[in-house]
Amino acid sequence: MKKVRVIYYTQTGQLKQLLDSLLGPLAEMSGVSTEYREVKPAVAYPFPWTRKAFLNVFPETFLEAPISLQEQPGHDQGGCDLVVLAFQPWYLSPSPPISTFLKTPEAGRMINRSPVLTVIGSRNMWQRSYERVKEMVEFQGGHLVGNIAFFDRAPNLVSVVTLAYWMFTGKKDCFLGMFPKPGVSEADIAGASRFGQAIGAALTGNGLDALEDTLRKLGAAETNDSLARLENRAKRIFNLWAEGIIKRPNIRQFLLNIFYVELIVGLIILSPLTALWGRLMKLFKKLSG
Ligand SMILES: Cc1cc2nc3c(=O)[nH]c(=O)nc-3n(C[C@H](O)[C@H](O)[C@H](O)COP(=O)(O)O)c2cc1C
Repeated sequence: MKKVRVIYYTQTGQLKQLLDSLLGPLAEMSGVSTEYREVKPAVAYPFPWTRKAFLNVFPETFLEAPISLQEQPGHDQGGCDLVVLAFQPWYLSPSPPISTFLKTPEAGRMINRSPVLTVIGSRNMWQRSYERVKEMVEFQGGHLVGNIAFFDRAPNLVSVVTLAYWMFTGKKDCFLGMFPKPGVSEADIAGASRFGQAIGAALTGNGLDALEDTLRKLGAAETNDSLARLENRAKRIFNLWAEGIIKRPNIRQFLLNIFYVELIVGLIILSPLTALWGRLMKLFKKLSG
């Protein structure tokens, strides 16, 4: 019997929906058992968010300050054949429940010496948070065997608007009746099961060595160079703001409000510029190659 342990946090339920579709094929296999460890903050984050609450989590989230988690005794913490670690980026870092959990002794016991497959449910800027999670998993003695990243396929600025609409109203429908639905599309959620079939076949067949390659061929972690560049720029700016805000608690709210304006203006200006730069570089390479 192959044992799969799924560790996850989800606020709106989107990531659990993705996991249910992804791991559906494993549930139907007699040789595989799956157990879930849901990570929950001691105090749930508000949903829908207020603008103030959404901004207020920024500095500590980006800097990965630990939060209090709900105790959940009774989970098997021994070795297993595969750990599926599912998370979402918040402000380019892994969300606080996951960044906190990954530093606990329990995570060490669950991950140490085990193969780990990461699953991400994001807007579209997930690459830095993945690098951070990779480091934390390796620090706890786990070894990565693949990554599956789900994201919103709408253009970057459109997905910023629809994510804000979803987060601030709690509604996952079409903003003004003309924007696309926010988040990972229903088609991508349904299509996640193709990865599950590959995972099941690897677990019960030839092993996990070639899994990463197989998943990549199935389109598991499509990267986007211009978004990666945008993340790199944003990472440096976020770091300055997060450090600066934490050091000045007496004017925290004031600084958060300025950060908010810079975030919006930065996105509106930087996002199309980096995309344009990426296209020009591609064209230049084509012409010179
Ligand atoms: C505070 C906050 C910050 C977020 N920052 C990012 C981000 O930096 N990059 C990104 O792709 N998505 C970001 N998202 C979207 C989430 O990664 C995720 O897709 C969404 O919250 C739904 O996930 P859920 O399964 O937890 O409900 C953010 C969401 C929240 C609430």
